[in-house]
Amino acid sequence: MNKIPFTLAIDTSCDETSASVVEGVVVLSNIQPSQMEYHKKYGGVVPSLAKLAHIDRIDNVVEEALNKAQKTIEEIDTISVTVGPGLAIALEIGIKKAKELAEKHLKPLVIVNHMEGHLLSGFAERNSKQDRNASIDDYFDNNNYPTLGVLVSGGHTEIILVKSPGVYEKIGETLDDSLGECFDKCGRMLGLGYPAGPLITEFAKEFRGSLKLETIKRNQSTLMKGKGEKGETYELPVPMASSKDLNMSFSGLKTAFKQLVNELNEKEISIQDEIKGETHGLGKQHITNLCIMLEATAYEQLVLKVNKAIQEFKPKEVWLGGGVVASARLRNVIRKAAKDIKVRFPFSKKLTTDNAAMIGIASNLHVIKLANEISIAPENKATLEENGIFSDPLDFSKIDRIPSLSL
Ligand code: KG4
Ligand code: ZN
Repeated sequence: MNKIPFTLAIDTSCDETSASVVEGVVVLSNIQPSQMEYHKKYGGVVPSLAKLAHIDRIDNVVEEALNKAQKTIEEIDTISVTVGPGLAIALEIGIKKAKELAEKHLKPLVIVNHMEGHLLSGFAERNSKQDRNASIDDYFDNNNYPTLGVLVSGGHTEIILVKSPGVYEKIGETLDDSLGECFDKCGRMLGLGYPAGPLITEFAKEFRGSLKLETIKRNQSTLMKGKGEKGETYELPVPMASSKDLNMSFSGLKTAFKQLVNELNEKEISIQDEIKGETHGLGKQHITNLCIMLEATAYEQLVLKVNKAIQEFKPKEVWLGGGVVASARLRNVIRKAAKDIKVRFPFSKKLTTDNAAMIGIASNLHVIKLANEISIAPENKATLEENGIFSDPLDFSKIDRIPSLSL
């Protein structure tokens, strides 16, 4: 392998202002201060607030990333940055900073697709790891392909066929809401705040034993049925269970969940009316049971499609990425579906939610791949630019093109 590249990576795609220094796939620093306090009271990310927070923080975050990695910008080989998908006015701030740095310090600029970052986040290595950068060899080992990428975040739910390093085909995706979005919206109905995904996971984990779950078929539909210790029953549909393709849908689940919450609320209100003449909304038992039901139903649909994809494409590995991969339950159900196929996922929760380290990993793997394939000579500049690597940092004309919305 040629020299291992060092990159300073930036991601401002949504509500995290993140910068990171990555050596090959080794994460030397990954700074990601949360903007949660700005957005929480609005129940979701407010783009204009995200932009202001990015402007406020970007310089410090970049400086902190370099300091923590104990690197100066002169020691860095490339500047890498997310160019989409994401909120345009948030992305702009990171892109502007990356351009400025590349221009000032005469470094090539590598542009990265945010979803590719999530996809490759499982290659990240700890700085303390003995066999440094060993997973780069795995990445370039042709025996590990085809691979199945499963991306589950707040913005996307996608199944990607990775045919060889950097060669992707999207073979399945949600037709409406993403799985994370479904968690956040349903959690909001239960008053769990934003983002609700982590709390749904926590409640479901703590109380899972109190509900007996089974999938049943009724007419043409697949349903998740849950029965509680006191005989209470819940049902939710598993959308797209019988569709032959690998696409998914979570908006129907959200609507059915809303109906279930409303029905339970009405029942609860009438009981409480009778007892005390006042209402208190859903009790803890119902809330935790609903979290268990939602988690089980959403993952059931995803696993059905992952199973189908495994049977059809016989992948050598499964790569998991995206915020919802922070859930151990999700990782476990996918591992179970994958049986003896290796499942790769990030070593830390901080690498599952939006972060710049995954962007640095994608950037460095691109650069290594290109360096292996072509000599970086002036006549190859066109090839470099086709691959999002701008060897002339002053030529930024192409970077503002609208990035494809997913892989
Ligand atoms: O990847 P990400 O940080 O942002 C996007 O690129 O969309 O994903 C955020 C999503 C949110 O929907 C959030 O509720 C969900 O990931 N999430 C979780 C957990 N942590 C974050 N969902 C379930 N369990 C978690 N522990
Ligand atoms: Zn993301």
